[in-house]
Parts: sequence; C-alpha cells; structure tokens
Amino acid sequence: MRKSFMLALVFVLALCCCAGAEEIKIGACIYRFNDAFMLRFRNAMADESGKLGAVIEFADGQDDQTTQNEQIDGFISAGVNVLIVNPVDRMSSQAIIDKAKAANIPVVFINREPTAEMLATYDKAYYVGAKAEESGTFSGELVADYFKAHKESDKNNDGKLQFVLLRGQNGHQDMILRSRYAVQAVRDAGIEPAEVANAIANWDKLQAMQIMNAFLMAIGPENIEAVIANNDEMALGAIEALKANDYNKGDASMYIPVVGVDANASALEAMRNGELLGTVLNDADNQGISSVRLAVALASGRDANSIGYKITDGKYIWIPYQKITRGDRQ
Ligand code: GAL
Ligand code: CA
Repeated sequence: MRKSFMLALVFVLALCCCAGAEEIKIGACIYRFNDAFMLRFRNAMADESGKLGAVIEFADGQDDQTTQNEQIDGFISAGVNVLIVNPVDRMSSQAIIDKAKAANIPVVFINREPTAEMLATYDKAYYVGAKAEESGTFSGELVADYFKAHKESDKNNDGKLQFVLLRGQNGHQDMILRSRYAVQAVRDAGIEPAEVANAIANWDKLQAMQIMNAFLMAIGPENIEAVIANNDEMALGAIEALKANDYNKGDASMYIPVVGVDANASALEAMRNGELLGTVLNDADNQGISSVRLAVALASGRDANSIGYKITDGKYIWIPYQKITRGDRQ
C-alpha cells in the first residue's frame, strides 16, 4: 500500500518535471506595441513559439521604462522560464539584467542593444539584433547611387548632396549609427554631403510628416536633393508631406529621392509606386525566430549553439540587413 503510494508519487513528480521541462514559458517585453517594425518582430516570435511548443506572453511597455520594469517584475513573479526584452531605454538594461540574474533566468535582449559591459555582467544575458552601421551604409549608398546616376538631382549643380535627415528615438543605436553611416556612405561614394536640416521624429510617421512639412516651408523643395530617414515610417511621413506639395507623384521634375530602413509592407508598396527610392530589409523574421529559439534553448539548458544561428562572442546573434531597390521585389 505504502509502496504503491510512493511509486505513484514518484510518477506524478516525474510527470510534473517532464511537463516543466517541455513547456517553456517566455515573458516578452516590447518597448511599444504601436510600432510597425516591432509588430513584424512580434508576429515572428509568436509563430516560432507556437512551432516549438513554448508559451509566450507579450507585454506592451508603452514607451515607458517604469511600466516595463513593472512588467518584468510581474513576469518573474509569475514564474516565466526566460525573458525576451526590447528595452524602452537600452541604457536601463543593467537593472533588467540584475533582476533576471537574481531570479536565475536567462534574458535575451532584442532590437535595442545593451552595452557590452552590461551583457558581460551575466552569463545568461544575450542580444539578438542587426548591425546598425550596416543599415546606415546601405541607405547612404542608395542615395549616392541615385545622385550619381541622375545628374539633374544635383539641383543647384554644386556637386554636393543637400539632404534632410530624419532621425529615430534619441539614444537608440539605430538612430545614432544609421545617421552617421548613411552620411559616411555618401562621402565614401565621392559626394560631399551637405545637411540642410535634421530632426528627431521618433520612428513615427505622423511626426515625420509634420517635420517635413515645416522643412519644406522653411527651406523649399527646390533646395532639397534627398531625404534620408532612419526608418520606413518616417520616410513614409516625409513622402506624405512631399505629396501634399505635389512632389513624388510621378512628374520626374518634381521628385526628391527618399530612403528608409525596415522594408515594411507599406514601404515596399510606396517603392513600387515610385514614391520611395529604396529601403533596407530589417529582417524581423530571422530576428524573431532566433530570439525565441535562443530563449527556449537557454531555458531548457540546451546548447545555444544548437539553434541554427551563429552565436558571436558568446553573446550575440547578428542578422544581416539587405539593400532593397525597385526591381528586387515585385
Ligand atoms: C528599429 C526599426 C524602427 C523601430 C525601432 C524600434 O530597428 O528600424 O522602425 O521599430 O527599431 O526600436
Ligand atoms: Ca547639390
């Protein structure tokens, strides 16, 4: 009697352990749900979790670090096995790492890169993303190639490129490095870059549209030879403003080349329509899939090198960008 009870107990315990090991619970914190690129990222994460039989729950940080910190505490006390975090403020990542470490669960950062020093403080802290400088270089090359191929786009014939720069959120590596490397790529192509205006539009279409409207009024479209935006949403906002001024509507003499980054569906459509010169694929699918595979591997104690993505410096998965021009994708 007693023996069979013990056996049953062992059996039940074994079942619990097995179930525990197989059903990984992921707490995923997104800086803000209302972001076109992060929506693609989120969808890829959800799909991959489904395929791996993991349970993923998403929290919307609403662009507020305090809110996100509470969500992280909530996930930890609910007993998630691993965190995937897209920090609101990447400079707050240390506090997040400390929380994960105290709870002894792995944390995979995505899209907003903690410093190497922060990641080094915890052996179970990783980053999945893309090299911001690469996307900057590609977008600068798109503009430079166009400028060289279309002599008439040097409207004032001074050999320099008069451009407007629309920047993403302050402090984001993609805002800092895309801006710097885009301008550098123009210079490397042998064209002197001449910035006529720049502004932070926080990755946001509406803000970019308003800013571009103001720039068009103040500077005049005839004095702008290109618009370089740190992402597609801002590029699309700039295009709205241009169209309101009868630019980029098909008349070749009323055209300003605009480039973005992400290759969101709406940008690809604008590119097909001839409104957007080009963009850079920010590969949400591979970033989403690899972050979930890494999270599940770490949470189940499996080798992080077994997931089909290369781990660099023991901490990073880098997904390459791709330059997208009209004709690449139909
Ligand atoms: C960038 C992306 C932007 C925005 C931002 C959010 O990589 O290009 O569109 O989503 O991440 O952190
Ligand atoms: Ca010029």
